[in-house]
Amino acid sequence: MSTSNHNSQIKSKPVGFFDSGVGGLSVYARFKKVLPFEDTLYYGDLANMPYGSKTKDELVGFARKILDFYNEKDVKAVVIACNTSSARAYEAVKDEYRFKIYPIIQSCAKIIASAGYKKLGVFATAATVQSGVYTHELRKYDSGIEVQEIACPNWVPIVENNKYTEQAAINDVRNQVSKMLEFNPDKIILGCTHYPYLMSLLKEFAPAGLFIDPAEIFVEYIKSDLEECGLLNSSGGAEQFFVSANPESFKAHSKIFYNVKDLPLCV
Ligand code: DGL
Repeated sequence: MSTSNHNSQIKSKPVGFFDSGVGGLSVYARFKKVLPFEDTLYYGDLANMPYGSKTKDELVGFARKILDFYNEKDVKAVVIACNTSSARAYEAVKDEYRFKIYPIIQSCAKIIASAGYKKLGVFATAATVQSGVYTHELRKYDSGIEVQEIACPNWVPIVENNKYTEQAAINDVRNQVSKMLEFNPDKIILGCTHYPYLMSLLKEFAPAGLFIDPAEIFVEYIKSDLEECGLLNSSGGAEQFFVSANPESFKAHSKIFYNVKDLPLCV
C-alpha cells in the first residue's frame, strides 16, 4: 500500500487523551477548538487520582493500562495530557505501541526554552518535581536557564473537590506563589494540567501574564506534527469520555474547561 493510501486510512482514527481527572481537559478543550474535525476520546483515571503522590512503578502501570485501552480503540495517537505521567511513565512506555504518543512536558520544552527566558519557575505535582524532568528537558535546549520547581500537593485536590473558595485553599495558593516570587522568575510554568483551573486565584497574587499554561503550545505542536505526517482529519469531530471511577464527579467538576454533555462511561 502507498504511504498516502495508508495515511488516509489512519487519519480518520480517533485521538485519545488521558489524565488522572479533569486536568487534561485544559489541553483537550484547546485541542477541540484548534482541531474541531478530529474524533476524540478522553480518559480520566479518577480511581488512581491524584497521580502526584504515586510512585514511578505505579504511574507506569496506570499509563500502560490506559494505552492498552486506547490500543483496543484503534487510535492514531494518544495525548498524555498529564505532566506527572509524562515525567514518570512516558520514557518506559514510549516504544511499546504502534500509535503516536505525545507527552506534554517533552513536547513543549523546546519551544519554551527557545523563548529566551533566563529564569523559569515551575509549579507541578510532587512526583513531577521529584523526577526533575522539567529542569532536564528545559536545560537540554538552553543550559543557561535557571529553573526553580515547586511542588503543590494540595492543588489537585482543591480542583477535583471544587474547593476554590475555601480559606485553606486561598492561603495555600498565596504561600506557594510568594515562595516562587522570591526566585524572581521571568515566567512560571503551570506544570500540572489541573493548575490552569486555579488561574482566578493565582492572578490575585501575581500578574496573569507571568504564568505559562503549556496547553496552547502543546496543541500547536501536536497539530503541526499530525499535519507533517499527513494525519489530520477533516471530516470527524465525535467525542466520548471515559473514567475509571466517579463519572458524576468528573462531569460536575469539568465545567470550567469543557461541557461534557453525557455522563462519562465508567470502564
Ligand atoms: N493533571 C496531572 C498533571 O498534569 C496530574 C495531577 C494529579 O493527579 O496529581 O500532572
